[in-house]
Amino acid sequence: MIARGKILQMAIAAFAAYAFFTLLVRFIGDEAWPNSLSHSPRNFIHDSTFEHIQNRTLGFEHIYAISMKERTDKRDFLTLAATVSGFKVEWLDGVRPDDLHPKAMPDGADTSLMKPTVIACWRAHMNALLNVITNDYSTALVLEDDADWDVSLKSQLREFARGLHTLKGNDHVSKEAPYGTDWDLLWIGGCASGPNANETSFYAIPMDPTVPRVHHRSTWGGPTDEWREKYPELAEDSTRFIYRAEMGCCMFGYAVTNRGARNILSALSVDRLDKPVDNALGDLCAGSYGRRQIECWAPFPNLIGTHRRAGSASRDSDIEKNNIAEFHEEQAWNMVYSTRRNIQQLIAGEDTVYSQWKDEDVPWSSKEIRHKEFIYPGGYLVN
Ligand SMILES: *[C@@H]1O[C@H](CO)[C@@H](O)[C@H](O)[C@H]1NC(C)=O
Repeated sequence: MIARGKILQMAIAAFAAYAFFTLLVRFIGDEAWPNSLSHSPRNFIHDSTFEHIQNRTLGFEHIYAISMKERTDKRDFLTLAATVSGFKVEWLDGVRPDDLHPKAMPDGADTSLMKPTVIACWRAHMNALLNVITNDYSTALVLEDDADWDVSLKSQLREFARGLHTLKGNDHVSKEAPYGTDWDLLWIGGCASGPNANETSFYAIPMDPTVPRVHHRSTWGGPTDEWREKYPELAEDSTRFIYRAEMGCCMFGYAVTNRGARNILSALSVDRLDKPVDNALGDLCAGSYGRRQIECWAPFPNLIGTHRRAGSASRDSDIEKNNIAEFHEEQAWNMVYSTRRNIQQLIAGEDTVYSQWKDEDVPWSSKEIRHKEFIYPGGYLVN
């Protein structure tokens, strides 16, 4: 017990020193560094640049959420989770296989390889993109109805935006478009993401308390073998990586620009759909299988995961027919302080929320946090 207390103390001291250093560097970076150093890896963009991320659309122009009309249970829960997190969604109805007229099927959609529900899921996402285009939104976030996210989502997104601009070398960021509009896709929520195997640049957020340890994740991809070897100090258990993505899977939450919506709709509807929509989107990000490459960026682990209520697996998905007799505990994939797992505390206005792993001592990630006072760590460019 004593030894463990000592280790904890040392870890806290190390973390405090790290936090102090980060703040110091950030302060200096903002206020006092000469212009000649403005391309330095430590060129932090001031928090106030990103203040629109605190707004009711998370700094995007609009937020859609997709759900089957009859899944009122999912609409209730997601609406509440969004409300306590300070944003609002507009619902778009999911698509059923029967709604898809055979004449409207995309080229390449082989129904012996893709289930009708999988093609219907593709259509629902195409409808979301169509809405982005017809409403002329510069950017929009699209969520699936079982999306879940950390209670600190807004702070995470601010650092994600800072990482994105730092990676792209943008010195000037418009307050109106805190993520910029010079990309196609921000794949912030899914079950996997990965960079090109030869990629050398990334943004690292070490000692991130909202990163679940590797053995708790249901995800794949992430840092390349070279990064792992070259930067052992960026422990996989506690570091969040941001990079240009050439692979992704699952579409729990993603943002597109208007340009991205046009590029994706033109590739996956007008041209062809040869795979389930998320795999086909991954091909676009990589420019593989004869696709014209689009510009995708992703964090790892992802910022938006998925939630499953305790009970029968048959309720989880409207795409997969899960076994009605299969039961599971409540699950929130790839996040520590799940908004949905803390929904009762958050609705009650309590200050304290809990990690999913309340029984584990994790030096960089407390079992409980006072979410209003929580300070998300800063990252830096590596290349
Ligand atoms: C990485 O670079 C090598 C050498 O230029 C090239 O042959 C390979 O195709 C590249 N890999 C990817 C995934 O682009």
